[in-house]
Amino acid sequence: MLEFNFTPFPVIETERLLLRRINNDDANEVFELRSNPETMKFIPRPLVKDTEDALEHIAMMEDKIVTNVGINWGITLKDSSKLLGIIGYYRLQPENYRAEIGYMLAPEYHGKGIIPEAVNRLIRYGFDDLKLHSIEAIIDPENFASEKVLHKCGFVKEAHLKEAEFYDGRFLDKVIYSLLDN
Ligand SMILES: CC(C)(COP(=O)(O)OP(=O)(O)OC[C@H]1O[C@@H](n2cnc3c(N)ncnc32)[C@H](O)[C@@H]1OP(=O)(O)O)[C@@H](O)C(=O)NCCC(=O)NCCS
Repeated sequence: MLEFNFTPFPVIETERLLLRRINNDDANEVFELRSNPETMKFIPRPLVKDTEDALEHIAMMEDKIVTNVGINWGITLKDSSKLLGIIGYYRLQPENYRAEIGYMLAPEYHGKGIIPEAVNRLIRYGFDDLKLHSIEAIIDPENFASEKVLHKCGFVKEAHLKEAEFYDGRFLDKVIYSLLDN
């Protein structure tokens, strides 16, 4: 069984990006991301309503890091500490050497290859440092931008689950992508 340890926090660099720990100074940006119906369209979670909610969300992410049950990074460009997005490994399954990756980015930065750049680096981190055997991503079948990201990063579609999730009065389909370490 794998054992995860996110202390010290792994700050990660890519060509253009710095992936760093999210803190309370990011509350406004977290609010912008998680209150925006556009960025949340395919993420079946309640919209954040105010800064208080955003701080709670940050505390929840921080708690996962210190208890080693999940990790999120704030996405920034190297020349500015402003948080543009969030990416992380959620739902770690140490017994299966597997983790789920998820991400979101502020709309003004879409279409610049930022998420593929971050995902590609985190795939390496997942396999080389966390010693994962597989990484999964679960998306809405209509989230074509996210699907493109996964294709670009080598993920393979494994399943389309029909009406498998009940959220906000509706049954939602979900598509499972995965990538094996080989
Ligand atoms: C999905 C998401 C993370 C993609 O990140 P990204 O850094 O924009 O990814 P890319 O730059 O590789 O763009 C992916 C595709 O998005 C599409 N796209 C979306 N908005 C675009 C824009 N404003 N300009 C250009 N392309 C855009 C393009 O088709 C692009 O594909 P292409 O490179 O083949 O043209 C981002 O759209 C997002 O944050 N969406 C909302 C949150 C979300 O759905 N998260 C995923 C949950 S599973």
